Amino acid sequence: MTVQTDLSPALRRATELLAVRGIDPVVQDGYLDTLRPRPDGIAGADSKGIQALWASKAGAGLYRFAQALIRGVLRGSRTPAEWLVLPSEGVILDVGSGLGHVTHVLAERAGPDVVVLGADISAPMLARAAKACTDPRVGFLLADAGRLPFDDGCVDGVASTAVLQLVPDRAAALAEMVRVLRPGGVLTVMIPSTKHGPAKLMSALPGGGAHYFDDDELPGMFAANGLTDVEVRQKGSFQWVRGRKN
Ligand SMILES: C[S@@+](CC[C@H](N)C(=O)[O-])C[C@H]1O[C@@H](n2cnc3c(N)ncnc32)[C@H](O)[C@@H]1O
Repeated sequence: MTVQTDLSPALRRATELLAVRGIDPVVQDGYLDTLRPRPDGIAGADSKGIQALWASKAGAGLYRFAQALIRGVLRGSRTPAEWLVLPSEGVILDVGSGLGHVTHVLAERAGPDVVVLGADISAPMLARAAKACTDPRVGFLLADAGRLPFDDGCVDGVASTAVLQLVPDRAAALAEMVRVLRPGGVLTVMIPSTKHGPAKLMSALPGGGAHYFDDDELPGMFAANGLTDVEVRQKGSFQWVRGRKN
């Protein structure tokens, strides 16, 4: 591994975890690029529909405003504090971290001894997230949810909000979140739902590359991956599911 002496505590911790997998990441625009050399079709090069937008520079800028607007209008998308079961030490992984808003919420709620890593496949999103980040406990990585660059069971909590609907192989991505979680750790996933709340109107429209989940689909995926204590909460047009790894 190339030793980087100027890394923040969070990125240094991330490099230790990556070392377990033998990955030698490069720091780029303040985030760790774990996808070099790029496998074919990775890092948004073949993104379609909405994800093509989030993988672009313009999309990352637009997301900043879209997110504020959407979250203001649809209060149900806000992370319910009591819903997150966060470890008080160790590493939390935020999969599909976008601009890092949820990543920072996780860091604030988890306390001073936790490192929170945001992983995303969009370089423009990560560049913005890293630029805005002043918390040494928070770091960002370019990584694919379908092939997370961590060893089995090496993170203490995993969260992912509004991401799985964009990932073509969502089963593989969920399995990866479970794989990297330590036994006893909790996985929390939020997905937009077009079956409830204001977004019901959208269910008649084509998904634009996004998957519309049935109510029991994500809880079923949790159970299929062996997670227990699976709980589901519908909040407006958003479904939250959490479960524990045994
Ligand atoms: C709607 S945004 C949500 C961002 C953030 N989680 C939030 O709640 O504000 C979806 C994010 O998922 C990322 N994403 C989509 N497919 C991904 C994949 N295969 N691996 C990692 N991130 C992905 C996108 O680049 C985008 O930043």
